[in-house]
Amino acid sequence: MRWYGVLSILASLLLPTRAIFADDAFHIDYHHALLGSPQAHATFFHKPQTSTNASLLYTISDKAVLGAVNPKDGSLLWRQPLAGRPVNNASSSFLVAGERDGQIISGYGRTVACWDALNGRLVWDYTVPEGTTIHGLQAIPVGGSNTNDLPQDILVLATPDHSNAHAILSRIAGDGSGTRWEHKDSSLSPSSSASIAASSQHVYYITKSHGLLASSKAKVVTLDGTTGHEAGQTSVAVDSDPLGDGGEYSTASCSGFPFLISADKGSKSVKFSLLTNPNPKVVGLTLDDKGEDIEDITVHHACDVTAPTHFLLHIRGKTCQWAEIYHVDVKSGGATRAYLLPATEEKSAFAATGSGSSVYFTRSTESEVILYSSESHGQLGRWQKTSFRATPGISPSHTVAEVVSKGKASFAVRLAETSQSGNWSLVRNGELLWTRPEMLAYVNIAAWAEDAGPDALAEELDLESSVNPLTGYIHRVKRHLTDLVSLPSYLQGVPETIVKSSPESDAIARRNLVGTKTVILGSRRHELIALDATNAGVFQWQTDLSSHISPGAEMKSIVVDEGRAHVYLSDGALIVINASNGKVIEHQSGHGPLSNLVRIPGGPAPAAIKVEADGTPRPAEDSAAVHPLEGNTVVTISDDGKAFGWAIGQSVEKTWVLEPRDGTKIINAVARAEHDPVASIGKVLGDRSVLYKYLSPNVALLIAESHSDLTIYLIDAVTGAVLHTSTHQAIVPGTDIPAVMSENWYAYSFTSRDPATEGIATQLVIAELYESSIPNDRGPLGSRTNFSEFSVDAGVRPHVISQAFTIPEPISSLAVSQTAQGITTRQVLATLPNSNAIVGIPREILDARRPVDRDPTASEREEGLMRYFANLELDPKHFLTHAREVVGVRKIMASPSLLESTSVIFAFGHDVFGTQIAPSLAFDVLGKGFNKGQLALTVVALFAGVLALRPLARKKTVEGRWGQ
Ligand SMILES: *[C@@H]1O[C@H](CO)[C@@H](O)[C@H](O)[C@H]1NC(C)=O
Ligand SMILES: *[C@@H]1O[C@H](CO)[C@@H](O)[C@H](O)[C@H]1NC(C)=O
Ligand SMILES: *[C@@H]1O[C@H](CO)[C@@H](O)[C@H](O)[C@H]1NC(C)=O
Ligand SMILES: *[C@@H]1O[C@H](CO)[C@@H](O)[C@H](O)[C@H]1NC(C)=O
Repeated sequence: MRWYGVLSILASLLLPTRAIFADDAFHIDYHHALLGSPQAHATFFHKPQTSTNASLLYTISDKAVLGAVNPKDGSLLWRQPLAGRPVNNASSSFLVAGERDGQIISGYGRTVACWDALNGRLVWDYTVPEGTTIHGLQAIPVGGSNTNDLPQDILVLATPDHSNAHAILSRIAGDGSGTRWEHKDSSLSPSSSASIAASSQHVYYITKSHGLLASSKAKVVTLDGTTGHEAGQTSVAVDSDPLGDGGEYSTASCSGFPFLISADKGSKSVKFSLLTNPNPKVVGLTLDDKGEDIEDITVHHACDVTAPTHFLLHIRGKTCQWAEIYHVDVKSGGATRAYLLPATEEKSAFAATGSGSSVYFTRSTESEVILYSSESHGQLGRWQKTSFRATPGISPSHTVAEVVSKGKASFAVRLAETSQSGNWSLVRNGELLWTRPEMLAYVNIAAWAEDAGPDALAEELDLESSVNPLTGYIHRVKRHLTDLVSLPSYLQGVPETIVKSSPESDAIARRNLVGTKTVILGSRRHELIALDATNAGVFQWQTDLSSHISPGAEMKSIVVDEGRAHVYLSDGALIVINASNGKVIEHQSGHGPLSNLVRIPGGPAPAAIKVEADGTPRPAEDSAAVHPLEGNTVVTISDDGKAFGWAIGQSVEKTWVLEPRDGTKIINAVARAEHDPVASIGKVLGDRSVLYKYLSPNVALLIAESHSDLTIYLIDAVTGAVLHTSTHQAIVPGTDIPAVMSENWYAYSFTSRDPATEGIATQLVIAELYESSIPNDRGPLGSRTNFSEFSVDAGVRPHVISQAFTIPEPISSLAVSQTAQGITTRQVLATLPNSNAIVGIPREILDARRPVDRDPTASEREEGLMRYFANLELDPKHFLTHAREVVGVRKIMASPSLLESTSVIFAFGHDVFGTQIAPSLAFDVLGKGFNKGQLALTVVALFAGVLALRPLARKKTVEGRWGQ
């Protein structure tokens, strides 16, 4: 008994202790590394190495991002934005892969680039002449036997952008050594269409004119593949709608037997001609008559030189869809229908896969996957899509397949499907393996939703305090009794929570402390998506609003209020949505366009004010029942670069106009955030004196730009008085000028060119506002009890201290961390587009009072001031994204959490990133190094020790007494 206590203390010492603080990185943050929606003609499975049979999934998205994805888990292996950064208006892009040469070649804009298929490194690139754009890219087949192991050559078609340029067809060496030959065509006008195809001997160049001079024939020029010399020219009758990939006349250009295929809109037949015939004849293929209006036809064929020339026509009718499979006779140049796949009402997506000497066709519908051989109509495999049941009505919009034959009659099929909702998923034998939420790459606005619903306990307490004391007391006793029911299970769980401490349980505990935050995101694709911003960005719901949004309109603002999300559109319409499940509650049509939306305090709820393009504010129709409080000040800017001040109450009154001098336009206005609490009104200096902060809710920052000058106005928004200005010259045109304002300071950044050295530098400027330059002085207003902004002596200007820092790279947007009470120091959050990162710069470093050209004095050191250096290195420690590459982030949002120390951060634009930061360290939570088990064991051991030593002590006391 006596030894028990000692033993247990020893035992507790032997328990593993975790005194080292593991970093929170990769536990509390999350990142969706996105590509954008994959394009059907530039997505395929491909084996990146000659030595293995494992393939990767490659795609170019419609945001011109090339990427490789691991088909096993959907993780991104590498990506390259072909336009430098993800773009929303990407022009056409092309992707081809050589046969087992470990390279993958993209064409975009004017650049053909060859990438290492395994790691995404650039191997070589080639630029087509100025004035032309790549309009076709083809790997030249090597006739099935790539004996010399050289990379495959590439055929590039560049078409003119204007009438002074001409089309160029060139064969470039696969090893990057340049062009082998070029074929120029000066007769092609920019409005004509051109496409290419290649067989192992020949290259085909197909052109067709459009517009007034349009003929019903396409011109086909045949060139010798090795020399580029013209070998023949002919014209082939075609219909008006080309059916090839991406609207090209030529199809199967990667298969060794390319053909032309076209149809007329709504017609029930298709024109086909095989290009490898010296005199291509035109064959009319009559489609099966199902008594249906045909809306759309697409062609699917295998991209394999050795595969038989079979192709599939996918026919979409008004009510049903079916497919017809044709076999091509390469000798006669004819094509015959081999079999038909049944028409179904369910929408289908088809994929063709070549594998050795066979071609497989896969049909994927909402509910099942069916595999056919190209030879006959027998099903080789059929799988139900089991795990897809959750999202009915969403059919795949396109799909690519990989078929593996496992012995005689057993097949495995992997499908990479793009759904209309923007999900990109992998389905193996009908089973969903993973999903990538690519629709998040289109998000352009976001709003924090309130925490999920009111607290149940708070509601009960409210109820108890609102009824008479006796009823309240009875209610309370009942409540405690019901609480007791869950006590045993709670007690049972206690030892487990103490002993077990996994990263997950830590994360859950932390989440409970931080609270739940939901963000509602609006995308360019007219979708509304809700994510859990505190819990790994988990999907909550997605709503497609395209049926409610008229063409050309876009979402301008989302406001979340009492469980409803109000989505304001650019045409003035309003859609109200239930914020907890995404269901549309109501839709009001537009009352005139708006360019912005502001919210002002009002009763009983905040009032929404629409701002028109000329800067005029107008109360929103849906806030008719809301009365804005008197004395609200709103600053607006008009499209032509003027700023206006407005007093909004029962009426709207213009109070001032700020018109910058000629050639200068105000491009942005920045104010303090709605929630911007200030914990202390002064800054305590080292000698215990106080510098009082200039804290006005009515200051705003106006950013004005002329062609190369930048002027920053600090204004009083009530009177329009300019409190401070600063001007910077030689701004590089087109660069971002982000700005942020909080408490008594503002920061902005710009990129300028040094006129003497032509060097480009980015500066980050911080300015702090104080009531007076003298400590312990509140300026002329100090002794006054009331104050009017309009009184004679009101022109008191703040004392502004500012400092500029040169930073190593441009900043595209700035934000500031937010906490509930503002006690925690703030961090300035900046996105760095060049290094694809987000950095949180502590305010202590960005302090405008850092002593210049001298070391800080003892009292300044006590304040934490460091000597000023013009260069501000961005410390890798401060990168919130750590090793992650967050591409294309346009906006960062911060929101307070339930913990004062912690601010919740969410960033979007292309990638989506979220984290939680504690700028003053987590002073109100126990760190990860805290060992609960050890604490509990120590208490137990102490208790046992006391028990063990008590007889000893008692004996000693008794003996002592006797000994007296
Ligand atoms: C790849 O697959 C082919 C055909 O299925 C097989 O002959 C070859 O041995 C495989 N290679 C490897 C490295 O597994
Ligand atoms: C896309 O838009 C940007 C900016 O609006 C413009 O500079 C660029 O030329 C556009 N690109 C294309 C391919 O239209
Ligand atoms: C997209 O995928 C996610 C994750 O699997 C799923 O929760 C969501 O319901 C899907 N959305 C649609 C519209 O299918
Ligand atoms: C939103 O939907 C939930 C669940 O369907 C419902 O309980 C709630 O009342 C709805 N909220 C509003 C504002 O309609």
